Parts: sequence; structure tokens; C-alpha cells
Amino acid sequence: MNLIQQSIRIINKNQDASGAYIASPNFEIYHYSWLRDGSFIAYAMDRVEEYDSADRFYNWVAQVIEAREEKIKELIQKKQKGLPISSKDFLPTRYHLDGSDTNDDWSNFQLDGYGTWLWGLAEHIKLTGKKDLLDQYQKGIELTIDYLANFWKVPNYDCWEEFGDLIHPATLACIAGGLKQINQYLKRKDLSKLVDEIKSFVKENYVYQGHLMKSTGLTYVDASLLWAAVPFGLFPLEDEVIKETVRLIERDLYKNREGVHRYTKDTYYGGGAWILLTAWLGWYYSSVGRIDEAEEIKRWIEEQADSNGELPEQIPINLNQGEYYQCWVDKWGGIAKPLLWSHGMYLILSIELSSK
Ligand code: BGC
Repeated sequence: MNLIQQSIRIINKNQDASGAYIASPNFEIYHYSWLRDGSFIAYAMDRVEEYDSADRFYNWVAQVIEAREEKIKELIQKKQKGLPISSKDFLPTRYHLDGSDTNDDWSNFQLDGYGTWLWGLAEHIKLTGKKDLLDQYQKGIELTIDYLANFWKVPNYDCWEEFGDLIHPATLACIAGGLKQINQYLKRKDLSKLVDEIKSFVKENYVYQGHLMKSTGLTYVDASLLWAAVPFGLFPLEDEVIKETVRLIERDLYKNREGVHRYTKDTYYGGGAWILLTAWLGWYYSSVGRIDEAEEIKRWIEEQADSNGELPEQIPINLNQGEYYQCWVDKWGGIAKPLLWSHGMYLILSIELSSK
């Protein structure tokens, strides 16, 4: 089976009429659309010239954000008046497919997806030449920028929905990356200053023994730190900080060269090897010319697809803590499959490699 074509089919099939991508159709707890997953999936669709799919996703996000104009303005006013803001008051990280808020007690305050959508939208405009989208989504873009500019330093949950009382450089990479990319069109001086400020903040506070660290006070690496290299370029690819971060990710998280784990202490489904993070390492390898290693990763991912050409979220091998695997299966069922974000990242890696 051609996994590229199958990945496109799976993503198209699971895009809601609203434009939202469901995270995973067969895993109840993921029946939502995340801005983070969705923006990377849309970027993948752009890269394989499925522009209409990406277009519909960005349109959905713009509407979701514009519908929350009052909420965003209120939050900013509260901040200006020095009033307390609870983490429940912020914009959520995931929405129902119709764009409405979710109503459960799952922690929901994450900022990375808002930066990622700005980045994805800017890439979409670049790849399609549709500059009119800047006018069409002006309100959504401006609201997102104001929101991020005001709250980027507030501790929020990381991209794995954990550690809500800390700040995470991977999240800051998404924010700075999104602001920088959209600013290629807006050309606002205040925004370039803000991007530089975020970069310096990371450099001063989140470099430990020469590498990026996971979060405030957590000095080990997390594979999501790869985002600081590709695609967000928080540091240049040849920067020693990036090289050292990748070296530690390879040493601690690319176990037996059989897939990349999130972080060594991860216990979610025992802490297996994540398809999307493995593709990310491949994306990095391909960007720095380590083509053979990127090809090796692509082949490994292809071997993980089941007979229907479906890729899961993670593969339960070389588990960090095997005793946790079954508890999660009992709680939420088998590992999510297909996971649209896994398919999206496989597409990105494949296209990157085909252009080398
Ligand atoms: C991951 C998130 C992801 C979500 C949906 C969670 O387990 O930690 O990063 O957005 O699944 O794919």
C-alpha cells in the first residue's frame, strides 16, 4: 500500500464538514480538534498540494477565534487591571468539531497551538499565494497576536497536556515561530521585537549545560524541543544549542533507533515510541543533510503502519515504564489509531525527502 496516498485519504476522510480535523476517529477521548495537531496536519496537506483541505481548516480556526473576540478582550483588560485570571478562563487547546467549547475537567490551557496556527497560516499563504487571506482573517490574526503578546509568559500546560504550572521552551518556540512567520507579511516592528524578546528569554532561562531543557526546573530533554529547530527556527540549525539538544534526544529518547520517545519519565501508555516525533527527528535529519538517517526513519514508520495503512500515536516498544501500559489500556482503550497527526508528520517527512 502506498502510505502517502493512504495518509492523504485518512486525513481527508476525517476532516469534518466544518473544516476541523478530528485528532483520532477511533479513540473517544480524541474526538476533538486541537489547534496544534490540526495546524501540522494542514501544513502536511499543503505540502502534498491538498490546498483545499488546509484552507478549510484555517478558515475554521479563524472563525473559532473571532467568535471569542470578547473573551480575549476581557482577558487582556483583566491583565491590564492586574486582576487575577484562572487557568480555566484562558482559551482552550481543543474544541468540538463544530467549534464550540468542550465541557470536561481535562486541563485545557495551552498556548502552543495559537502560535502554531499563525505559523501554519503563513505557510499556507506562502504555498498558495493567497494573500487575500490576510484580509479575510485579519480579525482572527490580530486577536491571536494580542492574546499571545499578553500571555506568552504565563505558565501553561505543555504540548503533552502536562506540567501546567511551568513554562516550556517548546511552547515558546511555537509562539515565536508563529509570530515571526506571520510577521513576514505584517512587517510590524513591535512583533519582531517581541520575537527577539522571546528568543532571549529562552536563551537566558532554558539552556542547561549547553542544551535546551524541557521546562522550568526540568533540566532533561523532551523530544518536542526539536520544534525549536524545525520548523520554528528559534535557533539556527547549526547553533550549538540545537546540536547538543538533538544529541541528547538521540542518546536518551531514540532508544535502539526504533522510534523517538517523548521524555524519559513519560508514563502515558508506558511511554512508548511516538510516530510523529520520530518523523520530526527525520525532518531535522533531512534539513541538516543527514539523508540516510532520515530515510531510515521513513522506512521505520512505514513498517509501523497496520494492514489498513493506519498509523497509531505510539508504538509500545522499549517502554519507559512498562507497568503503566495496561492501566491506560484499561482506562481509555488501545492506543489511538489512526492518529491524523502521525499521518501528517509522515507526509511532511516524505515530501521533505522527495525534494532532496
Ligand atoms: C497529546 C497531545 C495531542 C493529543 C491529540 C495527546 O495525548 O499529548 O499533544 O494534541 O493527544 O492528538
